Amino acid sequence: MLSFAEAIKVRRSIRNYDQKPLEDNLLLKINLLLQSPTKGPFGNTPRFILIEKPEARKKEKVKLGTYGFISNAAYFIGGCVEKFEFSEVDYGYSLERIIIELTRLELGTCWIGGTFKRKDYEILLKTTQTETIPCISPVGYKAKKKSLRERLGLTLTDGSKRNPFEMHFFENNLENPMSFNPEDKYHQALELVRRAPSAVNKQPWRVIKKDNKYHFFLLRDKNVGNTKNTDLQKVDLGIALAHFKLGFEEQFLNGKWHIKNPELCELEYIISWIAE
Ligand SMILES: Cc1cc2nc3c(=O)[nH]c(=O)nc-3n(C[C@H](O)[C@H](O)[C@H](O)COP(=O)(O)O)c2cc1C
Repeated sequence: MLSFAEAIKVRRSIRNYDQKPLEDNLLLKINLLLQSPTKGPFGNTPRFILIEKPEARKKEKVKLGTYGFISNAAYFIGGCVEKFEFSEVDYGYSLERIIIELTRLELGTCWIGGTFKRKDYEILLKTTQTETIPCISPVGYKAKKKSLRERLGLTLTDGSKRNPFEMHFFENNLENPMSFNPEDKYHQALELVRRAPSAVNKQPWRVIKKDNKYHFFLLRDKNVGNTKNTDLQKVDLGIALAHFKLGFEEQFLNGKWHIKNPELCELEYIISWIAE
């Protein structure tokens, strides 16, 4: 089985699925993962369900449309979290950990934040007034070919591209970029942040290291459509934090989350990690 770091490096958004139903043992594993989600760094635990599309169509009469961006998916993960300022961060964190486990099981997934019918998922999740559905993901066997839309270059981004390390990680302030040292375990964890998926591939994470603290900031991009329902760039930050933490866990490095804006720059502050 792949390590976390390996799974993070091989994961790609899968938009075309094999129509073959998932084997029972995999369905069991997926359900187990969804039933025990990790709590986010802000203390909230989202809840998730596995949806079998043909069943949901029959029982609840929902269409589960993805506006043509996803082909042939028979299963979707739906989820929701209590609304508050950082709910999307906790949601991104929790679902990305599940997505990395699914990648280790060689299953395909794709974060979907803009191109799905939220109403259908509200019905299936029976959400309350205080809950929000930031994103969903299909899950299934990858099809051999990319989708027609991908082959025609009609997806929103080229997902394989990532910015260089120095564009995201800094020491003491934003004027002082870090250069990647492959021997440094903390740099290895940051490299996993660099590989993270993000909405429209905007890679909005910026990290400033000062002493033994890693401060995470969000560089807002006005072109990422934040619907009134959700803040997709905060989901991106949650995903990045999950990669960072998985990097630490795999290398047996310790530390803890800490919330206090160090006022090191003008960017939107999210959270800090104190390395021990
Ligand atoms: C929060 C979030 C929302 C996303 N929403 C969509 C979406 O609505 N439709 C889509 O096709 N891809 C969506 N994506 C996938 C990104 O386009 C993709 O992750 C990015 O381009 C990087 O490519 P990769 O996942 O193959 O590494 C989303 C990704 C994230 C993290």
